[in-house]
Amino acid sequence: MNEEIDMTRIPRHIAMIMDGNGRWAAERGKPRSYGHQAGVDTVRRITAECTRLGVKFLTLYTFSTENWSRPADEVSALMGLVLSSLEDEIFMKNNVRFRVIGDIDRLPDDVQQKLRETEEHTAGNDTMTMVVALSYSARWEITQAVKRIIDERDPALHPLKMHIQPFHVTEDVISSHLETSFMPDPDLLIRTGGEVRVSNFLLWQIAYSELYFCDTYWPDFNEQDLHKAIADYQRRQRRFGKTEDQIENENQSE
Ligand code: IPE
Ligand code: IPE
Ligand code: MG
Repeated sequence: MNEEIDMTRIPRHIAMIMDGNGRWAAERGKPRSYGHQAGVDTVRRITAECTRLGVKFLTLYTFSTENWSRPADEVSALMGLVLSSLEDEIFMKNNVRFRVIGDIDRLPDDVQQKLRETEEHTAGNDTMTMVVALSYSARWEITQAVKRIIDERDPALHPLKMHIQPFHVTEDVISSHLETSFMPDPDLLIRTGGEVRVSNFLLWQIAYSELYFCDTYWPDFNEQDLHKAIADYQRRQRRFGKTEDQIENENQSE
């Protein structure tokens, strides 16, 4: 059954933990990289559907800091896929701006260069921003944010220059030093592949996100599954710590 979704209440920012590629391939007697390849097709379909629905930010967990400890051949297959999938016209066709977050310095030089070029080429696209988390983990991100806040040599921190005091460190200052400072926090976080955990993804930013877990392996995740997740999100009441009555009153006075 196709889920009805309310087009006036589409989540502005969806974050995805795209999990299950390896198990999907294993079920077919294929190497894990075959699953990653199939996962790229899912990225194309879901990106196109998100732009159609009016999602403004789509953040995709593509390669975690912890994934560096996978076998070398799997890591290099993944790097190859990142490189080849950035070649395609998906960004221009869908008017999508591309951004990357993560510890990019650890990536091979050709991948780093391609990422920078794709960010530059797509900088003027404004239907949706696709953010790819590569060599990313939330603890790494928070650690580097703290380092930058206390680093008096960083010119970007001009107002905080000189002797940083405890009162300078606010939630806004921390948020603005995270990799994600250019976008709002996710409204909805979807994890495919059956695991019910966040695996070091956006720990600060998902404080009030709605979480949705499904068993479908990422290569099988389709537009209908996305609609199901959005419909589920739309049935929830986001209270941000307030009471149900308060939220209903706020909605009535809008
Ligand atoms: C997610 O799929 C993609 C990456 C982490 C790069 P997995 O490769 O983790 O697939 P499973 O979880 O082993 O099935
Ligand atoms: C999370 O998946 C990372 C990505 C999807 C890129 P993992 O497969 O690495 O997570 P764990 O190991 O099951 O927690
Ligand atoms: Mg996995």
